[in-house]
Amino acid sequence: SQPWPGIIRAYPDRIPVPAGAKVITLGEGNTPLLPAPHLSELTGCEVHLKVEGANPTGSFKDRGMTVAITHALASGLKAVICASTGNTSASAAAYAARAGLTCAVLVPQGKIAMGKLAQAVLHGARILQVDGNFDDCLELAQKTAIDYPVTLVNSVNPVRIAGQKSAAFEICDVLGQAPDIHCLPVGNAGNITAYWAGYSEYAGDGVVKNTPRMFGFQAAGAAPLVHGEPVTDPDTIATAIRIGSPASWDGAMKAKNASAGLFEAITDEKILEAYRLLARKEGVFVEPASATSVAGLLATAADGRLPKGSTVVCTVTGHGLKDPATALEGNVEVEPLAVDPTAVAAALDLR
Ligand code: F0G
Repeated sequence: SQPWPGIIRAYPDRIPVPAGAKVITLGEGNTPLLPAPHLSELTGCEVHLKVEGANPTGSFKDRGMTVAITHALASGLKAVICASTGNTSASAAAYAARAGLTCAVLVPQGKIAMGKLAQAVLHGARILQVDGNFDDCLELAQKTAIDYPVTLVNSVNPVRIAGQKSAAFEICDVLGQAPDIHCLPVGNAGNITAYWAGYSEYAGDGVVKNTPRMFGFQAAGAAPLVHGEPVTDPDTIATAIRIGSPASWDGAMKAKNASAGLFEAITDEKILEAYRLLARKEGVFVEPASATSVAGLLATAADGRLPKGSTVVCTVTGHGLKDPATALEGNVEVEPLAVDPTAVAAALDLR
């Protein structure tokens, strides 16, 4: 059998690129749709995790970035720019490196996880730390791309959304139908817009008969879609979704309303609880923002809004190694152990 060719070549009729374009891919997509037995038992549903940390740069952003960078290279411009809470910048930096393009990333000073910064640095991006939040960074990137010869590769670029639809296609291809409910963390709202577009496209073409209800979860300190208005000073431990004014607001509203879905705010405490549960009970290490979908699953199961017996997919959007600092917080054993098996056995309560 052929090796997985990346999402552009896997879905050529659904993800168009310019004729004759050189496809820039790192083999993104085809990520695990992993059954989650513990979560299934807790909720009385059939829960699957779409493990997007398995993408080449460790997040779902690679699905959109292969398309955005392929288009950018074909356009003849020599540089790309993005605003980011970290994952978009890591992905843009990697794909731009592969394409031989210059990459500039605007990130909020001091508010991006260490692993993401490390990726952007090593891939050779020009990193500009902005004295402001993600929303300020995005405005700055958009203005720069209007006035200068540089391609904006944020999800306001529609080809990013086209690529990110592929995750919905893959889920349907594996299940043979769409799930009943799809849970997502929501920040700038590009991904929920893309999933809904993907599911709708498959249903419209008769590939599947159904579309899922879209459940979108935001961090309580950064929940503009839940409140119905922008948040001026967003804050959450889930830095990836620390966003007050989502660019794809309309797309997210459409996904929720057309699918009889919901938006809900999740506290940082509940996000971290789900983060630890995923690691300890399912063996899946995600970054904090990614656990928001699972925290939301548990919240809706607890208050009866999640119908028992449903088939549910929770996207876990990014790899846990992106943010080692949060993983280690309060968990580091400092006391050294004697080099002695009885000391090891005692530490483990073995007898
Ligand atoms: N989860 C992770 C790990 C993310 O990095 C993001 C967004 C989201 C969820 C939310 O997705 O914005 O499409 O609603 N990260 C962007 C970035 C903003 O710059 O990397 P969304």
